[in-house]
Amino acid sequence: MESGAGLEEATRWVEELSSRAAGAASGAELAKLREAVGDRGSPLSALYRSMKVMDPALRPEFGRRLQELRLRLDQALEAASAAISAREREATFGAERDDLGAYLCRSRYEGVGSLHLITMTRMELEDIFISLGYAVAEGPEVESEWNNFEALNIPKFHPARASQDSFFLDFGEEESTLLRTHTSPIEIRLMQAQKPPIYAVAPGRVYRRDTPDARHTPAFHQIEALVVDRGISFSNLKATIESFTSAYFGPSIKARLRPAYFPFTEPSAEFEITCTICSGTGCRTCSGTGWIELGGAGMVHPKVFEAVGIDHRVYSGFAFGFGIDRLAQMRAGLPDMRVLPENDLRILAQFRGRR
Ligand code: DAH
Repeated sequence: MESGAGLEEATRWVEELSSRAAGAASGAELAKLREAVGDRGSPLSALYRSMKVMDPALRPEFGRRLQELRLRLDQALEAASAAISAREREATFGAERDDLGAYLCRSRYEGVGSLHLITMTRMELEDIFISLGYAVAEGPEVESEWNNFEALNIPKFHPARASQDSFFLDFGEEESTLLRTHTSPIEIRLMQAQKPPIYAVAPGRVYRRDTPDARHTPAFHQIEALVVDRGISFSNLKATIESFTSAYFGPSIKARLRPAYFPFTEPSAEFEITCTICSGTGCRTCSGTGWIELGGAGMVHPKVFEAVGIDHRVYSGFAFGFGIDRLAQMRAGLPDMRVLPENDLRILAQFRGRR
């Protein structure tokens, strides 16, 4: 019965080890317990060894009991190990979650992820035009010389190119490409892609070799509007500009058109709005005139219709385009436009939540 006493002792040992495993606080503590199990001096190992000298008739039963104990121990260790990993994972997640929370609270980027003022302005303009029944279109920033100039009735060596002396990427034999200098080439793309009626606006980034100053940056944004339909007149253009201005700035800001020249419209106009800084009484920003120039406009030139294959005896249209940055600057009362591409968070954060 010596072996019986040995089994009892081993059972107690297994139980004790199992409960220590269940209480182990870390993987390292558990690893130590595992070593103890494998230890040649452990009660289980001793009993396995004793089988060699045992009455062979008793061996199978004894072996089965030992195997059971071994299994119980293994299961207890496995369960303990799974519990420890789960606890450790929880703790890591918890700590990382706390960290992120703390970061967001403490960080000077509090509320990180707001839209840029220019994006907000662009979206607001899109909404206004969508509500007037316009579609929103896009065009590439790398444009062909033909779309950017030629098709818009600005041939090579035309003086109008000089004011847009621009970033050419490739001077091809047949066709050169450049960073578009305005959003007007999207008019060409629209008219090539679809038949009238067309009612569309197209916002986007444009590039000019301008020296940065308070009202200019070499990369800026414009929004182009194009309407082509039967019977479109200059009064439709004027009414559209007026409704968009009052929708965007409120009814106290008026719009006016003044004669101007653009190669792709005839007649052409510049449109101005009441200076938002002085409300029209005259200040430094508007050079004492009470008006701020916003963009260009006009009736689509027959030559432009010709370039895209639209019959100008059947259709007429108007187009206008203006700077989004200038508009954002006006409404936000920013004295210097250069802060917009600089992305200084102290400035951008002031417009957070506007949209
Ligand atoms: N594309 C012109 C510019 O960037 C602005 C402009 C003038 C757009 C007249 C128009 C227009 O659509 O009709 O200076």
